[in-house]
Amino acid sequence: MCSSPERRLVVGRLDGIIAGSAQLSRAPRNNEAQAFAGTLTSAFVAPWARGRGLGRGVVREIEQLARELGLVVLNLDLRDTQRAAMGLYENLGYRRWGTHPVYAEVEGRIIPGHYYYKLLEDEPAAP
Ligand SMILES: CC(C)(COP(=O)(O)OP(=O)(O)OC[C@H]1O[C@@H](n2cnc3c(N)ncnc32)[C@H](O)[C@@H]1OP(=O)(O)O)[C@@H](O)C(=O)NCCC(=O)NCCS
Repeated sequence: MCSSPERRLVVGRLDGIIAGSAQLSRAPRNNEAQAFAGTLTSAFVAPWARGRGLGRGVVREIEQLARELGLVVLNLDLRDTQRAAMGLYENLGYRRWGTHPVYAEVEGRIIPGHYYYKLLEDEPAAP
């Protein structure tokens, strides 16, 4: 039995070694009003494996999974310092809809965070 049915984990391998992952979270079952939406969290690629397409691959796999689950929109948020992630998501068609000026504390400094969404019907599902 899955201990967290609203959460799915996708991993990516490079040369057979797990080097990246991301999670898809859904609203709890009693939140019917947001049953169509998912949240993409915890995307991470090991530093040695970066720049080789693994991050894009893991995010695309999350999107495909979300479509298969019938979700319509994916949401995510990230810190202003996560520039590589911003490039990744913006290249994949995520739209920034807002900025929280007091979002996170990093090394003793308060920094902004950005909120994004992507409508999954914006592009056709992969074959
Ligand atoms: C963000 C992260 C997952 C990207 O993983 P990756 O495997 O290196 O990314 P990819 O090689 O698939 O690159 C895909 C796209 O991301 C963008 N990107 C990747 N690294 C980048 C960088 N250093 N600067 C700017 N854009 C970058 C580019 O648009 C790139 O497309 P391109 O190669 O056609 O230019 C990785 O850098 C990471 O784990 N960072 C730390 C954790 C983090 O910020 N997670 C996001 C939290 S939601």
